[in-house]
Formats: sequence, structure tokens, C-alpha cells
Amino acid sequence: MSKRISLDRILQSQGFGTRKWCSELIAAGEVEVAGVTVTDNRVAMETEGLIFKVYGETWIYREKLYIALNKPGNYECSRKASHHPGVLSIFPEQFDRRGVQPVGRLDHDTTGLLLLSDDGLFIHNQSSPRHHIPKAYEVSTHDPVTPELIAMFIAGVKLHDEPVPLAAASCRIISSHLLEVVLKQGKYHQVKRMVAAAGNHCIALRRSRIGGLGLDGLGLSEGHWCYLGARQLAQLAPD
Ligand code: URA
Repeated sequence: MSKRISLDRILQSQGFGTRKWCSELIAAGEVEVAGVTVTDNRVAMETEGLIFKVYGETWIYREKLYIALNKPGNYECSRKASHHPGVLSIFPEQFDRRGVQPVGRLDHDTTGLLLLSDDGLFIHNQSSPRHHIPKAYEVSTHDPVTPELIAMFIAGVKLHDEPVPLAAASCRIISSHLLEVVLKQGKYHQVKRMVAAAGNHCIALRRSRIGGLGLDGLGLSEGHWCYLGARQLAQLAPD
């Protein structure tokens, strides 16, 4: 929704700092709109499609951020990362200031598709178990993948601390030591624990798809990210 608001408020909303700091940036001649340096922060601007520069770097106004990251290994999803750097350190610092956070968690050693946003409702809807959004994982295993393991995953695997067996929505062998598992739940370490309960061991885990949005379609290599538009967000809905 487009709004007309003062430039200092616009910069604040985009994560450039407090309103006072943003006013100072403007007064110091560090902000440009349409090729013109704006030094009066009271000028109201239309937010829709607004392109501006801060310290010579170009930004597009975005009311909310929706981001897909191909998460590299050795990054933590928690906000207070302790043993490894946090995923937010991959992004411009403005994102953290705007309150961007990962949608759900991947383990520090899991790679692949991770969504991030500063839209609380979106985060809630995506994370809510009630929405059953299927998530596909590629699992590299220590021992060969057997048809028995696939059968167990489809029938349901009983995990310690889980009251009922957890089943995969689908599961298929990709090659001798690689399988694809699609889950509609997101229990703690679920894939690794299911693989262990079936007598094998997960040696690498990559999330390849959330709903109908796949990493391959996004063309993101590990460590890279992109903004998601309306078309891609629509693909996140359950099949
Ligand atoms: N299942 C796991 O075991 N780990 C993840 O990171 C995601 C799903």
C-alpha cells in the first residue's frame, strides 16, 4: 500500500536507524532521490516504487521484506547465535534493524532454502503447523538407502518424545546414498532423527523446496539470496 510520508520516516522504516539519525543523514546530503540530493527531511514522498540512494548505494522502498536464502553450512538461524555466525550476518545491516528473522529454523549444518521476513503475519502463517506446508529435503546418508527405509518413512517412524509416529508426505530414492523426503511437520531435528530411527545416519541435509517454491527455480547458489515477489510468494502455498 502506497503512502506519502516524510523522507526521514521512510529511511527509518527501511532500517537506516532512528528517525533522528535518518534526519541527520538527510541534512548531511547523504540521501538522493531521482538523482537529486534531498536535504530537507520534511519533504513527503510517495513510497510506492520509490528508489533512493544512501551513501551512493541504491535502494528500493519495500514495505515488507520477503527473502529466500540458500543457506550455507555453519550458520545458525537463532537471533543470538552462539557457536557459528547467525544467518542475518549474510545480509545488509538494515535488514536486522527492520526486524527481519528466519521463518523457522534449519540446523547450523543444514543447507538450502530458508525464508526470512519482517512480516509477522507471514512468519506466523508459514511456521504454523496448522498450514501443513510441505518441505522437501535431500538427505545424504552414511549407508545405502533401502526400500525398507522408504517404507518406514511412509508408514511413520516413532521418535523419542513424540506421542505418535511421524510419517513423510512422500519419500523417494534419488541414488544409492541420497533420498528426497517431503515433510509436513517441522519437529526438532526431524529428518536426522527419522533417518537414525530407521537405522541409517544423515551425513548432509539440504532443504530443496518449500511448498511449490524450489531452490532450482530461484537459481540461488549457496550463500546467495534474493527478494521474493508476489508470484513466488504464491508458490509457497501448500500443493
Ligand atoms: N530436519 C533436521 O533434522 N534438520 C533440519 O535442519 C531440518 C529438518
